[in-house]
Amino acid sequence: MLDPEDIRRDFPILSRLVNNRRIVYFDNAASTQKPMQVIRAMQEFYEKHYANVHRGLHTLSQEASKMYEEAHEVLAKFINAYSWREVILVSNTTEAINTVAYGWGLWNIREGDEIIITIMDHHSNMLPWRLIAQLKRAKVKYIDIANDGYLRYDQLEEAISERTRLVAFPIASNVLGTINDAKRIARLAHKVGAVVVADGAQSVPHMPTNVRELEVDFLAFSGHKMLGPTGSGVLWGREDVLEEMKPFKVGGDTIIDVTLDTVVWHELPWRFEAGTPNIAEGIGLAEAAKYLMRVGMENIREHEMELVRYTLKRFEELGDEIEYYGPRNPGDKTGVIAFNVKGLNHHTVGAALDMFGIAVRSGMHCAHPLHRRLGLDGTVRASYYLYNTFEEVDYFIEALEKILHLKKNLLRPATSTTCTGT
Ligand code: ALA
Repeated sequence: MLDPEDIRRDFPILSRLVNNRRIVYFDNAASTQKPMQVIRAMQEFYEKHYANVHRGLHTLSQEASKMYEEAHEVLAKFINAYSWREVILVSNTTEAINTVAYGWGLWNIREGDEIIITIMDHHSNMLPWRLIAQLKRAKVKYIDIANDGYLRYDQLEEAISERTRLVAFPIASNVLGTINDAKRIARLAHKVGAVVVADGAQSVPHMPTNVRELEVDFLAFSGHKMLGPTGSGVLWGREDVLEEMKPFKVGGDTIIDVTLDTVVWHELPWRFEAGTPNIAEGIGLAEAAKYLMRVGMENIREHEMELVRYTLKRFEELGDEIEYYGPRNPGDKTGVIAFNVKGLNHHTVGAALDMFGIAVRSGMHCAHPLHRRLGLDGTVRASYYLYNTFEEVDYFIEALEKILHLKKNLLRPATSTTCTGT
């Protein structure tokens, strides 16, 4: 098991005060905090090695290129890719998915084809496919969830047909936490020759990822959700599929040669990393991956599962005042808990928790269709990571108790204040 107290020492921001209380950071599904190791790696790169990559024979450019290439190797190891050439560094999950949509989808999806996505996808894995469908006159089909928050595999089996060209899904929901069975989905899709795009934004930071076992064709994830800097992320693709894919953004560093009539594209992954890349961010992300590997992804998964188990148990003490959504079994979900306090707007609860120094996200979390499907106009979302503690969960429950107490008093009918005077 990991020791969150030991880990917390690496995160300077976790000792700051918010509203005169030590911050409790439960907004990790939106973005995570950064350890000193990541901050220092980026600072050192800027202080000692900074230059553009792949463009200079001088020493600094050679050093920067080597560090940037090594970042691809570390990230390949992190997800057990077959080769570092399968790792394309992008800005975030959204860019990764758009790269596939416009590099693969635009060139391979035809009129009448079907794209299957799920109702639990966040907008980043929904809107690119809808635009491609519109451009190519293809059809988008949505797989629903059951009321307990699990994906309807029965519906997926029915929906997949010879017309299915692409299946996209989240490995874990950013609202319900539901962990989907990637291998099962990939096998169903591959039976009809469809390409499979997995959104790993909410899974890769929180559990071991082995792309060889997932059996998907593409995997997208963000660096800033796994202790890395903003502006970093990965699109992983199977080498044979990447070889067939067209570049989405083209320009500097994507080519070996250009004449006025022809272009010879660069080898993988450079042909997909157009322009000067986010070099420091890529190096920072690799440092984050090293940090996570040192702690152990199994340990992180275990820790978050226990935090969820404990929270759900403590929720029971609050009676039926709290409604939460998604699987009940902590083994089937990530460290994400979406809930509402009966009778209070989600933003009111989010703002009240902030007064206690607790950072959560409130709203629809870039997943409007999922909230509509649940009949909700928003939820409060607490999302955990390796540096969160059981004591923080206790403090969160205490804060909710106080909010419930206030609600009871504020919403009490005003019987004794009726004015009878003239
Ligand atoms: N999709 C991200 C979230 O869930 C932004 O907060």
